[in-house]
Amino acid sequence: MTEVQDRADIARAVALLRAGELVAFPTETVYGLGADAQNPAAVAKIFSVKGRPADHPLIVHLPDAEHLTEWAREIPREAIALSHAFWPGPLTLILKRSEIVPDAVTGGQDTVGLRVPAHPLALKLLQAFGSGLAAPSANRFGRVSPTTAQHVRDELGDAVPLVLDGGACQVGIESSIVDLSQGAPVLLRPGMISRREIEAVIGRPVREAASARPATRASGMLEAHYAPSTLLVMLESGQIAARLRERLQSGERTGVVSWSPAPEGLDAPCVWHYIGPDAVAYAKGLYASLRALDQLGLACIFVEAPPEGPDWAPICDRLAKSVAGSGESAEAP
Ligand code: TXA
Ligand code: MG
Repeated sequence: MTEVQDRADIARAVALLRAGELVAFPTETVYGLGADAQNPAAVAKIFSVKGRPADHPLIVHLPDAEHLTEWAREIPREAIALSHAFWPGPLTLILKRSEIVPDAVTGGQDTVGLRVPAHPLALKLLQAFGSGLAAPSANRFGRVSPTTAQHVRDELGDAVPLVLDGGACQVGIESSIVDLSQGAPVLLRPGMISRREIEAVIGRPVREAASARPATRASGMLEAHYAPSTLLVMLESGQIAARLRERLQSGERTGVVSWSPAPEGLDAPCVWHYIGPDAVAYAKGLYASLRALDQLGLACIFVEAPPEGPDWAPICDRLAKSVAGSGESAEAP
């Protein structure tokens, strides 16, 4: 897109946001559905378009780390260190909220999620807007997050007056979320900034959310999430070809999402998406693959169980939730 076009789009986006409308915009992780975070009526539109329960808090996106002190209070030194290390970037900090944060954004909680995204168009938008934008991922509640502007249009259509197009998201899965509001830091949602990288900056251990589950309300932790409507089945690498052959008789095509290449000479009817063995590239491509396969009306999608190791931890997290939430169409008549 040209510089001039960008500027015209940003001006239109800012005008819409100031008028209390929604604007979808790209971030480096996934596309967000944005509203003026200080306008409760605008924020309410996000919940209604997404079909999201009102007590699920939203992340506020800021133009730069300097804005932190406006939106949070009692900010621990660790938050400042993390903001310096990773912002702009795919890390969300949960902090005690300041008085400017409306209840509509936090679901009434005393904390707020904050991040500065690393996408150039998001930063231009935030700088032109000059304040915080509340933005969850721009998908319907429980569904796969969008990683292109077309995904947002496909899913939300006319419900969003403007979708800024910044191309395909570089990271491809949602930000890491660290809760620093309760003393000991807790990783509420794993992301491509790893627990180890976070620990290296703050110099102390970060607990994984599993042990903190009952105390949190991060919707990213619900079991059914990030889910296609086609049934998703996770299989070990060696099982896929055999399971495909078993399905030959059904006459139905099966989708496959893998990090290892399809076996040579495979003679089963399938649509095989090979994303590759690099965790960074896999995260970038995963949601687009799930969406594309979900549109083919397949009876089922096999997903290869990811390799062990910290690089794959956030991918395992998303896949487990996708599997748990998938299969809506499998139950349809
Ligand atoms: O990468 C991302 O984080 C993307 C892009 C658009 O920035 N956003 C995103 O938003 O994934 P959303 O709403 O789909 O997920 C935000 C997560 C939810 O699980 C929400 O519950 C959690 O952040 N969250 C937000 N504020 C919170 C708070 N105060 N306490 C605990 N969890 C919070
Ligand atoms: Mg989401």
